[in-house]
Amino acid sequence: MKNYTSINDIDNINTWIKEAREIKANPFENIDLGKNKTLGLLFFNSSLRTRLSTQKAALNLGMNPIVMNVSGDAWGIEFGDGTIMNGNTAEHIKEAAAVVSQYCNVIAVRAFPSLTDKEKDESEQVLKSFVKFASVPIVSMESATGHPLQGFTDAITIAENTTKKRPKVVLSWAPHIKALPHAVANSFTQAMQKMDVEFVITNPEGYNLSPDITKDTKIFHNQEEAFKNADFVYTKNWSSYDDYGKVLNTDPNWMITKEKLGTAKFMHCLPVRRNLIVEDAVLDSEASLVIEQSNNRTFAAQLVLSKILKEL
Ligand code: CP
Repeated sequence: MKNYTSINDIDNINTWIKEAREIKANPFENIDLGKNKTLGLLFFNSSLRTRLSTQKAALNLGMNPIVMNVSGDAWGIEFGDGTIMNGNTAEHIKEAAAVVSQYCNVIAVRAFPSLTDKEKDESEQVLKSFVKFASVPIVSMESATGHPLQGFTDAITIAENTTKKRPKVVLSWAPHIKALPHAVANSFTQAMQKMDVEFVITNPEGYNLSPDITKDTKIFHNQEEAFKNADFVYTKNWSSYDDYGKVLNTDPNWMITKEKLGTAKFMHCLPVRRNLIVEDAVLDSEASLVIEQSNNRTFAAQLVLSKILKEL
């Protein structure tokens, strides 16, 4: 595998889940695979889990991770083609990507969307520019439209925790005060579409994800109806896609409660705002899988890095 930038880079999700679970059972088995190899982690945005779990994955493979907060610490990077650089940007992505490629054998990038310019966000300018101008493999640590390390992690977590051959999985929107990206919901949807699960989405009117992502997945605007017989409820806020980046609804009735959850397991990528997205009684109960999800981030990243290292 050259790059990992989308859930679509997973050729067989069941095989990948099996391989990631094998890594989890024996995380240091391939400690020499990444010897003398460097992973560069470039963050244009904040992170706790992605930053630490991806470094941990690299260390488990014997790689040397180096990290940079690009926004703030590096020179402002210009992505426009032919731009007269007389503004705030000091270095072009052509030079930046080529230079970092000399220091690193693999580059991982996190760059969120603007949520103000749909066309620009969907062009994935930052991620695709690294793919184009770097001479080494690129891993997405969350881009404008996808979070494939998280989506694969969530697939592993469901496979580990299901007691049924074909569980029912619900992706539920929940309220938030800020405009949030679609990336986690998009990648989770794509991952579930690859798995043998009954998958539905529930969100208020005006909050349907891109039809290019949801395809023929059933969408309910009635959360109670969607939750019937659910085995897993994956919760996430996202801003409106149609009225791009807008917060149209903050109705607290969409918050996840213990009563609504019933016997289902609760999932969220974290960070999560307590008693806004989900009540304490859910997060503090046995039904919550959020800590295990975060643990699985390491093994998802480790499998991706292993596949890339084997092809270097
Ligand atoms: N879930 C996730 O990507 O967490 P961070 O934003 O903390 O990396």
